Amino acid sequence: TSESQPPSQPLGPGYRDEAQKPTATVSKPIPQDNVFILPQTPQLIALLTMIRDENTGRADFIFYSNRIIRLLVEEGLNHLPVVGHEISTPVGRHYVGVKFEGKICGVSIMRAGESMEQGLRDCCRSVRIGKILIQRDEETSKPKLYYDKLPEDIADRWVLLLDPMLATGGSALMAIEVLKSRGVPEDHILFLNLIASPEGIKKFADEYPKVRVVTAFVDQGLDEKNYIVPGLGDFGDRFYTM
Ligand code: PRP
Ligand code: URA
Repeated sequence: TSESQPPSQPLGPGYRDEAQKPTATVSKPIPQDNVFILPQTPQLIALLTMIRDENTGRADFIFYSNRIIRLLVEEGLNHLPVVGHEISTPVGRHYVGVKFEGKICGVSIMRAGESMEQGLRDCCRSVRIGKILIQRDEETSKPKLYYDKLPEDIADRWVLLLDPMLATGGSALMAIEVLKSRGVPEDHILFLNLIASPEGIKKFADEYPKVRVVTAFVDQGLDEKNYIVPGLGDFGDRFYTM
């Protein structure tokens, strides 16, 4: 099921001419307009190179994943509504700005999604966080729902759904069904994701066109065990147990 290689492009600062820049593989573009791929900057590609590397140990894997997660959260927050907010500065001038409007919560798909909770908390101090435990069957890749615990008033909140890996899309689709069953409107859900397969993200974005997805990278495809390729292996194992 794997697809063609994503494009390579020269990456680096503007003071270097194109010939001096290294060529790196960047994310596949995809047509769905509810999917927002982070800008493919040299910094993001360097961070992704670290976490994809099989020789990167757990401490570095956690450190560099956290930096990408922070970028995803910061970009995700741009998709929440703001209202006008005018303030006065200490030098007696007015400034016309904005402030966030509405209540939010995070929901992590356990276990790997829990790795993204701290990044959300770093930006939204006292954010409520719900949990959905979905595990992929190792043989069939089919997701199974074991448990969920969500804020009572989740239907009145904007939900940031957290899972670093979107492979077949089965787990993320199941999580959206749980959220919908609690009354969360699709257009109040934002899915934050590190790496997606093209087939998984297409399925997800087509099925839920009102759910916004912010991802760092759409990869090449899936292997015979439904792992993302080139991918980074098992995110949960590398972050928590390896
Ligand atoms: C991984 C990952 C996603 C899911 C993606 O979790 O974190 O939840 O697989 O695959 P899919 O798109 O094909 O459903 P896994 O079930 O392996 O559990 P873990 O988080 O405990 O590692
Ligand atoms: N889950 C992971 O952690 N990695 C994959 O490549 C697919 C599912």
